[in-house]
Amino acid sequence: MCGIIAYSGPRQAVPVCLDGLSRLEYRGYDSAGVAYVSEGAMRVVKERGKVSVLREAVSGNGAHKSRAAVAHTRWATHGEPSRVNAHPHLDASGGLAMVHNGILENYLELKTEMEAEGIRFDSQTDSEVLVKLIGRELARGLSMNEALAAALERAEGSYAITLLDRGNPERLWAVRNKSPLVLGVGEDECFLASDVTAFLAHTREVVHLDDGEVVEVNGGSWNVTRAPGRAGRRKLVELVDWDVQAARKDGHPHFMLKEILEQPKVIRDCLTGRVTADGALRLDEVEARPVPSKLTILACGTSYYAGLWGKYVIERLAKVPVEVHVASEFRYEEPVLGPGDHVLVISQSGETADTLGGLELARERGAELLGLCNVVGSSIARGVDTVLYTQAGPEISVASTKAMCSQMLMLLLMAVSHGRRNGSLAEEAERELLDGLLGLADSVEESLDTIRVQARRLAREYAHASHFLFLGRGIFFPLAMEGALKLKEISYIHAEGYPSGEMKHGPIALIDRDFPTLALAQRDRLYAKVKSNLAEVRARGGPVIALTNPGHDLDVERAWEIPSLPEPLNTFMVLPALQLFAYEAAVALGRDVDQPRNLAKSVTVE
Ligand code: F6R
Repeated sequence: MCGIIAYSGPRQAVPVCLDGLSRLEYRGYDSAGVAYVSEGAMRVVKERGKVSVLREAVSGNGAHKSRAAVAHTRWATHGEPSRVNAHPHLDASGGLAMVHNGILENYLELKTEMEAEGIRFDSQTDSEVLVKLIGRELARGLSMNEALAAALERAEGSYAITLLDRGNPERLWAVRNKSPLVLGVGEDECFLASDVTAFLAHTREVVHLDDGEVVEVNGGSWNVTRAPGRAGRRKLVELVDWDVQAARKDGHPHFMLKEILEQPKVIRDCLTGRVTADGALRLDEVEARPVPSKLTILACGTSYYAGLWGKYVIERLAKVPVEVHVASEFRYEEPVLGPGDHVLVISQSGETADTLGGLELARERGAELLGLCNVVGSSIARGVDTVLYTQAGPEISVASTKAMCSQMLMLLLMAVSHGRRNGSLAEEAERELLDGLLGLADSVEESLDTIRVQARRLAREYAHASHFLFLGRGIFFPLAMEGALKLKEISYIHAEGYPSGEMKHGPIALIDRDFPTLALAQRDRLYAKVKSNLAEVRARGGPVIALTNPGHDLDVERAWEIPSLPEPLNTFMVLPALQLFAYEAAVALGRDVDQPRNLAKSVTVE
């Protein structure tokens, strides 16, 4: 969603914020803006389009003088993408500038109330209502902290806001409620941002803020206050172990490609400290608790598909029944869940609003909460009873890739751990799996270059298609859905993932010469079944690309051979192949791979 960065300190604040915005652009990119105080006047520069357009507009605007600034890159929720709707927004006096991430749900009611008092609005945004609400309290003579408390008392919804006041040009105030905001602490300087990648180049020391806390920043000093009656934790400065390099492209044309190719490293990092060199598994976070008799998984998007994949391996290896729910559905249902039930929440960002909503419902029901997150200190990581970190490093590309690899790996480790502890997994089978895992990163690494060349060739050949079908069975059905999601979100080709055995129950009617199928036909347990399903598609004239292994006997238009690995490790070879196919198709079509239209990383609104 939207990205916020603000700075207070001895440097030129505007360039620091513009650099931060460039790093946050993956969160939203329809417009951008910055506010700073220069020669006693509040200056706001904002533009429709990417941060590069804003950079041009800012040059020569007296921007070099200010020591504090607030900046924003937007992903529209209320009001079309336009300059007037871009942030920062101003209060009625023009002296208070605010950037906002989130949704103010009761903004229409508040706007009508303020309009009746004669307050004028320039934009169609909910955000402008929020800053005018705070400004109205300031105009009544309240201090900033009092004004924030009074205004936010009336605000319903989610927000992370940062404010700059003309009267205190080096000071910033910020507050969050169900929207991410983190404080970065440097030497004599502070940063406020939606996520750490915005300021990682300057400091790795962070303070995670809790809902309802107000932080006031002035250069290197910062102070957190909590609204009376609201809970929060003692504020600690923590060290983020991501480095700046990890948040850069490293010579790759896109973050997405870099992150796909990082998967061997991700596998190694995930296993570090969890599977020892002699093949013993240690999953302390999970093993501190009894094996659940049933597990409910909540997630969205790619993380949901990882959860579906996890269901297959946990049920097979540990015989623990697993339900997997799309969090946006679950949160408004009547789940049969109670004290003692185990819920696993999966989220790369740890900030997805729907997943957080699901987590809250599960907590209300008294369930035991385990989280699988990538971002350390994120809202989901802090909201669960136990968190397992996936250790995949920063994922910048909007399309999630390496995160799914890390989530699947952690789910597999959980399955092995549960299976061993409840006696469902024989010692011999466990050893074989863990040995296989230790060699997995090397196998994937050795094959990635060839897979990429094949993906490029096929993607160029088929990128003209308007529709694509992805077929798979068993553990490959969730991957078929993920392959389709990747293709549609970055290439805009319509694609569906389907279980191959279901084709004959309806969708086969769609098949003709112009409707290609990418079939996951690994030579495993279900190979013979998939082969028959593909024959049915071929008989209707449908072109089939089969992602298979050497030695196959498929009669298809294109056989894409990748090295075989035992099940379920073979999914870790299939996953990057699907991601690379989508990536190369998007490149062939000239799409904006890292920032696909209408999307944003980290969906922090409902
Ligand atoms: C797809 C994608 C999204 C996310 C989803 C959940 O490429 O990135 O579908 O997977 O928004 O995000 P997290 O895992 O951060 O909760």
